[in-house]
Amino acid sequence: MPTVSHWKKIRLPRFTPMNRSLEVDVLVVGGGMTGISVAYLLKKAGRTVAVIERDRLAQVDTGSTTAHLTYVTDLRIHQLVKSFGRDRARAVWNAGVTAIDQIERIVRNEKIACDFKRIPGFLHASLDGEKDERRELQRDAELAIELGFAAEFMAEAPIVRRPAIRFKNQARFHPLKYLAGIATRIPGRGSHIFERTEAKKFEAAGKQGAIRVHANGRVITCGAVVIATDVPLTGISSVPAAAALQTKLAPYTSYAIGARIKNGRAPEALFWDTSSPYYYLRVDAEGKGQYAVFGGLDHKTGQAKDTIQRFGALEKKLRQVLPDAMVDRRWSGQVIESHDGLPLIGETTARQFVATGYSGNGITFGTLAAMLIRDAIVGRRNRWSKLFAPQRKQVHGGVWNYLSENLEYPYYMLKDRMAAGEGKSLRSLRRNQGKILKLNGARVAAYRDARGRTTLLQPECTHLGCVVQWNEAETSWDCPCHGSRFGCTGKVIAGPAETPLKRVKKK
Ligand SMILES: Cc1cc2nc3c(=O)[nH]c(=O)nc-3n(C[C@H](O)[C@H](O)[C@H](O)COP(=O)(O)OP(=O)(O)OC[C@H]3O[C@@H](n4cnc5c(N)ncnc54)[C@H](O)[C@@H]3O)c2cc1C
Ligand code: FES
Repeated sequence: MPTVSHWKKIRLPRFTPMNRSLEVDVLVVGGGMTGISVAYLLKKAGRTVAVIERDRLAQVDTGSTTAHLTYVTDLRIHQLVKSFGRDRARAVWNAGVTAIDQIERIVRNEKIACDFKRIPGFLHASLDGEKDERRELQRDAELAIELGFAAEFMAEAPIVRRPAIRFKNQARFHPLKYLAGIATRIPGRGSHIFERTEAKKFEAAGKQGAIRVHANGRVITCGAVVIATDVPLTGISSVPAAAALQTKLAPYTSYAIGARIKNGRAPEALFWDTSSPYYYLRVDAEGKGQYAVFGGLDHKTGQAKDTIQRFGALEKKLRQVLPDAMVDRRWSGQVIESHDGLPLIGETTARQFVATGYSGNGITFGTLAAMLIRDAIVGRRNRWSKLFAPQRKQVHGGVWNYLSENLEYPYYMLKDRMAAGEGKSLRSLRRNQGKILKLNGARVAAYRDARGRTTLLQPECTHLGCVVQWNEAETSWDCPCHGSRFGCTGKVIAGPAETPLKRVKKK
């Protein structure tokens, strides 16, 4: 079965690699939901922009999303109120409402056929347990209503048949049809999109001078740069500043499956349960039947060995609620958690902007980030800029335990460096498999492809040197320390690492 998301079936427009130096007002690094959205809004605001994307547009986390458009954050409303107070909790959800409205406006104005639809969302009792959660859900529904949101407690939600809160007016769309629609509006009149163009080196001439970014052996000169790479690149920040930002982030891998439901009659809706990690379900009408996308079973990137088995576990769970579901796809990707559960969006160094830490709401928050960064660059006031500023102070009672999150680095660094390896010979390596082997006394990350050819790499992550782990589900090398991901030939899929794993010569 393909490990490719449901959305990737469509053909995206193609853009050529950058082959000349140029000058723009703003350079956007990264062509996912955040990068394309911010470039589109900046162009609309009269700025010239260039988007550079290392691979093809929207193939990394945006291509793996399930695209629930919701203002209901991963942090429950009572947790938001406890951590941030009522006014800020309301502001966080209102920011999400505004972002979804923005997407709807773009879809309407640009006439983008991307299956956008307003549908309800249900936060329901856990699919795993039998605990009675009615009182808790009822209290959350009352709190949401008090704060001005259209919520309603229900003794039993459809499909999942558990107590739930029904939130009106959430939405869904096809994320890649949407992005294809807005991407084609960006090039022209001094603006560009380049694929297969990786930002390799950043230089800034003082606080006011131009920023120069090297890619494909050429240089882009710009007045501001937006780092839209999900896990931020260092860019023109100092290394200590970039490292400090990194300590506020934790990448998690989340799994999803897609399934046809013949003659399905379930209502089109979004569902999330109260488990931790939570399960999430989206049911869309498709032809005469329905299509369900179901996800969950998250773990910290690089820290689970049973990656492929998680698809089977998801399928079993989906059958509990939709017994006729016929799974035809499966995939996984990363969500980036932040220290206090809210995204980090804004200027981190003079004229360098980042947007990250979206948790499971990166499509909504990616759009919000585009609006916030556009406003900061054009000098427009935005009422949410302080709330999401990367420099905000840690609030009392935040969800993050700095010590335990950041102790993982020395733990994995020592543990995996001391480990013996999974064998001493390439003969133990099956096709499509990767293993950490000890060959001639040296540790290597060895991979054998479908045709039997092997690739040997140094297994030390190019970020800070932890030993990468094989991810069978995505045939990638993932780092357990800060979540960098590398393809089976060593190229970077996701940061914070910025350089590929080094090749080892076969002896
Ligand atoms: C399984 C799953 C389910 C999810 N479900 C939802 C959901 O239902 N609702 C929701 O709102 N969110 C959801 N999310 C989260 C959401 O999809 C992401 O937060 C969002 O797509 C991130 O978008 P992005 O543009 O910031 O990052 P990405 O999509 O990762 O894009 C970053 C881009 O930067 C490029 N890049 C990196 N380095 C460089 C470089 N040096 N030079 C050039 N380009 C570079 C990468 O190639 C990549 O294309 C889900 C995520 C997953 C994995
Ligand atoms: S050591 Fe930090 S991501 Fe690998």
